[in-house]
Amino acid sequence: MEREVERELKIQKIKNGTVIDHLPAGSGLTVLHILGIDKGYKNAVSIAINVPSKRWGMKDVVKVEDRILRPEETDKLSLIAPEATINIIRDYKVSGKNKVTIPNDITGVLKCGNPSCITNKREPITPVFSVEKNKPIVLRCKFCERIMERDSIEAQL
Ligand code: CTP
Ligand code: ZN
Repeated sequence: MEREVERELKIQKIKNGTVIDHLPAGSGLTVLHILGIDKGYKNAVSIAINVPSKRWGMKDVVKVEDRILRPEETDKLSLIAPEATINIIRDYKVSGKNKVTIPNDITGVLKCGNPSCITNKREPITPVFSVEKNKPIVLRCKFCERIMERDSIEAQL
């Protein structure tokens, strides 16, 4: 007799690496971009887009073998997925689980949109933004006070 059709297909578990879970639906490709995985990655990568989530209805999930996130990548991730969970996988087990947090200051990741800003002059001054608002994300340049909103933030990630 034929087996009942499986209704659930889970993405394969990974052996070692990072699972980024609870991403806002549709943000998974941006996450791959932040990780530089669009530029040719040698190990296995799985992405689930718009899959059911108990918490939000829909979510994205990104699983990357043999890779951990650098602090700069985590900062970038926090700007588009402030409620994501970063799971570190070692030998198939979840060995670490961290909620993404938006840092108080975003340093050296984004450029200020104000051409007259001191951070855009010849003398190199590292741009620093403070978080003005969380949802939706709004940042403020610490040097010229110019506001930066989600679209211009995402365009720079
Ligand atoms: N996972 C994986 N490979 C493994 C272990 C876990 O891909 N070897 C994935 C799971 O599929 C899940 C995420 O890592 O998407 C976190 O795993 P786990 O903590 O076991 O799941 P939950 O308890 O559902 O996580 P949370 O409470 O954070 O929702
Ligand atoms: Zn500025």
